[in-house]
Amino acid sequence: MDLMEFQAKELFAKHGVTTTLGVVVETAEEAKAAAEEMGGVVVVKAQVKAGGRGKAGGVKLAKTPDEAFEHATNILNLTIKDLPVNRVLITPATPPEEEYYFSFLLDRSNRQYLCIASVEGGVEIEEVAKTNPDAVKKIAIDPGTGVDADKAREIATEAAFPEPVFEQAVKMIEDLYKVFVEEDATLVEVNPLARLAGDKLEALDGKVSLDDNASEVRHPDHEEFEIREEADHLESKAKDLGLNYVKLDGEVGIIGNGAGLVMSTLDVVAYAGEAHGGVKPANFLDIGGGANAEVMANGLDVILHDPQVKSVFVNVFGGITACDEVANGIVGALKILGDEATKPLVVRLDGNNVELGRQILADANHPLVTLADTMDGGADKAAELANNQAA
Ligand SMILES: Nc1ncnc2c1ncn2[C@@H]1O[C@H](COP(=O)(O)OP(=O)(O)O)[C@@H](O)[C@H]1O
Ligand SMILES: [Mg+2]
Repeated sequence: MDLMEFQAKELFAKHGVTTTLGVVVETAEEAKAAAEEMGGVVVVKAQVKAGGRGKAGGVKLAKTPDEAFEHATNILNLTIKDLPVNRVLITPATPPEEEYYFSFLLDRSNRQYLCIASVEGGVEIEEVAKTNPDAVKKIAIDPGTGVDADKAREIATEAAFPEPVFEQAVKMIEDLYKVFVEEDATLVEVNPLARLAGDKLEALDGKVSLDDNASEVRHPDHEEFEIREEADHLESKAKDLGLNYVKLDGEVGIIGNGAGLVMSTLDVVAYAGEAHGGVKPANFLDIGGGANAEVMANGLDVILHDPQVKSVFVNVFGGITACDEVANGIVGALKILGDEATKPLVVRLDGNNVELGRQILADANHPLVTLADTMDGGADKAAELANNQAA
């Protein structure tokens, strides 16, 4: 799993690597407020899992909170290497006097770790590697002995960190190695590792890839990063499909029509979940008025791809779109999804043409679908199914 810059910096801070966390926001208004709070010049930085954000226009200096608002507006509209920018990091501007490059990575072919360091870092590092490869030092690390103070000193000497920041570099190398080993990372990269005014060394950017094989047993704490990551993916998919979707933290997927009905469905499911192992709603999804097969299939598609979801509760009140159309929508959606539909569905229909709607679902007799007469009954059934599946 690759982390975003702000997540990488959280891990840096945890292991004593000098960095500034800043504030992550999702709207231009929040960006402005964060800039006001910080005072002075700030940097607005796109948070996407791609390098070269600076060159793509995703890193901008803002002298005033209004400028931060403007940059955030633009950056949140960007797509960098096919990735939509959903959040920006606001952090104090600390112009680097020099930019260095530093990384630890897993060198699979040589069955060891590799450290890559250069005092000619920054956004042109790839160019430096091509035109002046001698400026990029590669130092093999024996995983058995790792990086202690002596090894860190050896690396700093090889990379030729200048005297005024040399001792800081030694300490930072040791701490970055802790991030690499203790977090079970396959890559820890800092570019730029910046020399700031007053000869202060600081990680201004960070890239960390975590080894997913370690996440279950050795690092259950890494799940925190994964949920945000999955939420991103599902929410952007839903956005592309034109759905009104918000990822939540539970196990019962929710589909309803009308924001009010969906909100109360969340409440009812959360309440029902108390009796079933504490399961909770997995999302908010309002499919609005047009609950036809395509919209229903899109909604189910998003929800069923949420790995946390164990059951789905479809709670629809037939109005202009009558229950028979909704029922046909559900049957059609399950046909469209085919083998991809694998989780139990509880369906509660009420309102316009309810009898016909229920009849259509009963006739279809789909093995995954359970009909519920009431909202409370449906919520209870969905929570029970989610709890059974989770067990
Ligand atoms: N807090 C900051 N203050 C001043 N300049 C910064 C700051 N963060 C980044 N920069 C500048 O922007 C450049 C690009 O930012 P960086 O975080 O490395 O993104 P990317 O590597 O994706 O382009 C850096 O090399 C640095 O010169
Ligand atoms: Mg960078």
